[in-house]
Amino acid sequence: MKIVTILGARPQFIKAGTVSREIAKYDEIEEVIVHTGQHYDANMSDVFFYEMHIPKPNYFLDINGLGHGAMTGQMLEKIEEVLLKEKPDWVMVYGDTNSTLAGSLAASKLHIKIAHIEAGLRSFNMKMPEEINRILVDRISTILFCPTDTAIENLTNEGYDDLDIKVVKSGDVMQDGAMFYKDLSVKPNCEIAENYILCTIHRAENTDDEQRLREIFEALNEIAKEKQIILPLHPRTKKIIADLGIDVAALTIIEPIGYLEMVWLITNCDMVMTDSGGLQKEAFFFEKPCITLRDETEWVELVDNGFNVLVGANKEKIISTYMNQQFNSDFNIDLYGMGQASKMIVEQLIK
Ligand code: UD1
Repeated sequence: MKIVTILGARPQFIKAGTVSREIAKYDEIEEVIVHTGQHYDANMSDVFFYEMHIPKPNYFLDINGLGHGAMTGQMLEKIEEVLLKEKPDWVMVYGDTNSTLAGSLAASKLHIKIAHIEAGLRSFNMKMPEEINRILVDRISTILFCPTDTAIENLTNEGYDDLDIKVVKSGDVMQDGAMFYKDLSVKPNCEIAENYILCTIHRAENTDDEQRLREIFEALNEIAKEKQIILPLHPRTKKIIADLGIDVAALTIIEPIGYLEMVWLITNCDMVMTDSGGLQKEAFFFEKPCITLRDETEWVELVDNGFNVLVGANKEKIISTYMNQQFNSDFNIDLYGMGQASKMIVEQLIK
């Protein structure tokens, strides 16, 4: 069996790290990895391949720094060429990025079966590029691997029970990764206080809206007066705060870091503040409260169970939620599977 795996953005490298390790256990599966090039900086890409022992991509398409249309269009064209040459049984795609959409669209037109990992998630915010990508990719896939019960319910509500698409609850491959890598974490090389908050910001809905971005940073600057905030800065956000002249002097800004350093920072922090999807779950895996700088989340079970509070980009709400510290601290609940997602996914594909 031949699988072509399409990767492009940082969270996909992390997810593929655990699934590729599982695939490698099977002699009968050949995995061909295509890296679209969407993320290309060494600390946004290479570091993950290196430290997570992901096989070197067989194809590197070098498509990046473009608008959505050009990026997705060029990926579609190049991925189609690869698929025509490789003739895989399956194309495997992860999550909700432009690389995910391009990979699945190319495969569907060639009638190649598509496995979508992290399927069924919805934010119900059609302004997010990720939401558009998710909906389209789910609909053209052959098998959908859902991380949560909510993801399954979303698909049922959209009529998937009547479609010829197999829906499987696999659990979350990021849970597998967290369990595998937790003892391998590496302390980053920066000033770290005994108590600190770990923060990330990169979503277009925040970075591309000046008012939201300014309010978020005003709140962070206020909170940083009493507690260190460590912010590994995504290149998108870095460029925009420089252009807008936003003051970040009070924060500990560091370059993007690898997964093992990220695991260290999560493990040792007091709290996470983020607009990332993956980090909201990682906060839970490592038993930390999370404040989410968005108006909605795909990971609603974290909010429903009180581990995560959605604060949007409202300065007062960010600060008051931080001050109140009202979070559920009983993490003894299975929301994302018990670290068996990758195994189940590969077994299903073989079946
Ligand atoms: C993308 C995904 C998002 C995911 C995120 C993870 C889409 C629509 N969005 O958003 O779902 O959560 O990745 O990080 O696919 N850049 C660099 N160096 C890099 C990577 C990017 O300088 O290594 C620059 C790009 O050239 C671009 C900007 O950062 O100017 C944004 O990159 P892009 O891939 O368009 O979107 P992300 O914000 O990373």
